[in-house]
Amino acid sequence: MSASPKERLRVGFIGSGFIAQFHLKSMINVRNVDVTGVYGLSPEGRKEFCDLVSSLELGDCKSYETLEDMLRADDVDAVWLLTPNHTRVDVMRTIHKEIKDGRSSVTAIACEKPLARTIGEAREMLHLAEDAGLNHGYLENQVFCTPVLRGKEIIWRRAASATGRPYLARAAEEHSGPHSPWFWQGDKQGGGVLSDMMCHSVEVARHLLTKPGAGRNSLRVKEVNGSTANLKWTRSHYADKLMKQYGPEVDYHKRPSEDFARGTVLLEDEEGNEVVIEATTSWAYVGAGLRIQLELLGPEYAMEFNSLNTGLKVFMSREVSGSEGEDLVEKQNAEQGLMPVLEDEAGVYGYTDENRHMVECFRKGETPLETFDDGVAVVEILMGLYRSAEIGETVKFPAHDLTDYVPVVARTGA
Ligand SMILES: NC(=O)c1ccc[n+]([C@@H]2O[C@H](COP(=O)([O-])OP(=O)(O)OC[C@H]3O[C@@H](n4cnc5c(N)ncnc54)[C@H](O)[C@@H]3O)[C@@H](O)[C@H]2O)c1
Repeated sequence: MSASPKERLRVGFIGSGFIAQFHLKSMINVRNVDVTGVYGLSPEGRKEFCDLVSSLELGDCKSYETLEDMLRADDVDAVWLLTPNHTRVDVMRTIHKEIKDGRSSVTAIACEKPLARTIGEAREMLHLAEDAGLNHGYLENQVFCTPVLRGKEIIWRRAASATGRPYLARAAEEHSGPHSPWFWQGDKQGGGVLSDMMCHSVEVARHLLTKPGAGRNSLRVKEVNGSTANLKWTRSHYADKLMKQYGPEVDYHKRPSEDFARGTVLLEDEEGNEVVIEATTSWAYVGAGLRIQLELLGPEYAMEFNSLNTGLKVFMSREVSGSEGEDLVEKQNAEQGLMPVLEDEAGVYGYTDENRHMVECFRKGETPLETFDDGVAVVEILMGLYRSAEIGETVKFPAHDLTDYVPVVARTGA
């Protein structure tokens, strides 16, 4: 911890899209923070963002036309990197250059998942952050989900201490498909649903299986086995629908990314015990909305969480009609019938505790629970899973030949 923590952390947002708004709304429950700047491509998006900052009374937010201008501002201490995956490394190079050339006094960075599209890119992100002297945090919200925080604490304190460590973590995240065209384009996003959503599942599972207080490298990956499929969005009607909604660039007749993936990761703890992560993700799940399912199993106990088994539910008869929305649950698919409601999405999904943690670590100069090192480790697992799906075989770790590996669906000209 540094001798004198900053009284308040002044944050600049890079990107003002979907996830930026989620982070912003969660900041009302975070102390010692002001949101002082935003840079994004769309002036309207930036204006909307600044207006939201004002209405939430989160600070005096300035809109910047260039990233360099925001990085040079004297009231931005840390940045939250929230732009699409294919823009990440370029943004990071700019940040690195501004700091190294002495034009920016930014000291910390938090970056959304996945850290990058390939292992090579992820390692470059880590190198640039460290070389620029930045304190870095990897934004994996599921590690900070309130049920994960509480569940992990109880299981390890009461059950694992009495009967032995947990040995199996199951994690699934499923919804009906992402909201912006770039997610659907393999080269831009880095893959399909495996890269987009299994990054959550493997990291939250790894976190649940890690003994509290132990380093993440206390678990060593031995091998991974993955498979992918195209269940829904390559069907002609749905491929047409995608193209109509997102334009000709999103052509699932000719260039689909996987909309289903499963992965098994075999790990070993420091005492040689084997533990397993079982992950499933899909963009082909049509339930009430986004569903996160987690399980942690051990010799005499089990923990489970399902984000759609909410305490609060509403029922609306067929006489109730209204516009489509996401006001009940993220990626909502209906406005009638019996519907689950997440009354505090930012809290349950983990954004509130994640941002509170990052702000406090950056303010005090402490290392966050999730860093770019974890982001690199996640991409290594994802690329192992993609490679396994491609060759139809289990991939043994460490897999040194995957540094420049690009998943089939992300290869340009594939
Ligand atoms: N934690 C989660 O559950 C979660 C959920 C959604 C998205 N994400 C991640 O957040 C990131 C952003 O996703 P999103 O849903 O907000 O996307 P989005 O398409 O809704 O918004 C992207 C934003 O980035 C801006 N942008 C695009 N290119 C840019 C560039 N070169 N420089 C600066 N700004 C640029 C756009 O103007 C827009 O404001 C992605 O990496 C995604 O994987 C995480």
